[in-house]
Amino acid sequence: MTDRKGIILAGGTGSRLHPITIGISKQLLPIYDKPMIFYPLSVLMLAGIREIAVITTPHDRAQFERTLGDGSQWGLSLTYIEQPSPDGLAQAYLLAADFLDGAPSVMVLGDNIFFGHGLPEQLARAGRLTTGGTVFGYRVNDPERYGVVDFAEDGSVRAIVEKPDIPPSRYAVTGLYFLDGTAPERARAVQPSDRGELEITSLLESYLSEGQLQVQQMGRGYAWLDTGTHASLLDAGNFVRTLSQRQGQQVGCPEEIAFLSGWISAADLEARADLFAKTDYGSYLRGLL
Ligand code: G1P
Repeated sequence: MTDRKGIILAGGTGSRLHPITIGISKQLLPIYDKPMIFYPLSVLMLAGIREIAVITTPHDRAQFERTLGDGSQWGLSLTYIEQPSPDGLAQAYLLAADFLDGAPSVMVLGDNIFFGHGLPEQLARAGRLTTGGTVFGYRVNDPERYGVVDFAEDGSVRAIVEKPDIPPSRYAVTGLYFLDGTAPERARAVQPSDRGELEITSLLESYLSEGQLQVQQMGRGYAWLDTGTHASLLDAGNFVRTLSQRQGQQVGCPEEIAFLSGWISAADLEARADLFAKTDYGSYLRGLL
């Protein structure tokens, strides 16, 4: 079996967070003590993924490379792919087709933050399916802002609708997609929507129409945080701060996951701790040794 590869989609203009995102990419903004992209990166790592493509705008690529490097500090291999214009989430599979080279994948949106007891197990379950796709439904107050699950009477999934005026349910589809090796080929058949984008929901529809899409619930014990507005960005940072200070445990710490997974040595971890010696983050890494 080919190993599953990861994609982090970190393109876009971040226009809803202007003027902050004029000079810096949204996915590099701080969520309390680390850049936003560390959180989705950690999710891929928790799913056991070590070969990852980061899709950025040509303009922001250098900032991401400076922040994440080649990934070897975490025992990962990172590749950078440029998205010249943001033409929809499904476009990521076209851009990453060569990188994937037929492998199944997990794509996570660079601004999606997940936290929850049992997340690694849930990811492992999705990762074991070698054909078809798995997405995650999460109950929200404002489903009209997302892709929304339309359930049939018997609880099966009838459709996934992108930003519906009248949401068929309260279950949003989160920005985490486990798809098999056919995703790029299916993405090639996706037609642009009314807003001119290759919608991820159209790609999911292609799986769904063949009975190949699973929708797993992420229950109320999970946090799927929004970072799409100034207020929600601050709230996400405060959530991480509250939790990590109360527990004395990091949220979304790539070094910790890499070390506990045996992908980096104690000496590697110590080098990272030294690098961040002036911060609580650095002390935390030292404490793991
Ligand atoms: C995208 C997807 C949507 C999904 C959401 C999750 O929307 O199109 O289906 O629910 O991400 O974050 P966007 O946030 O790009 O508007």
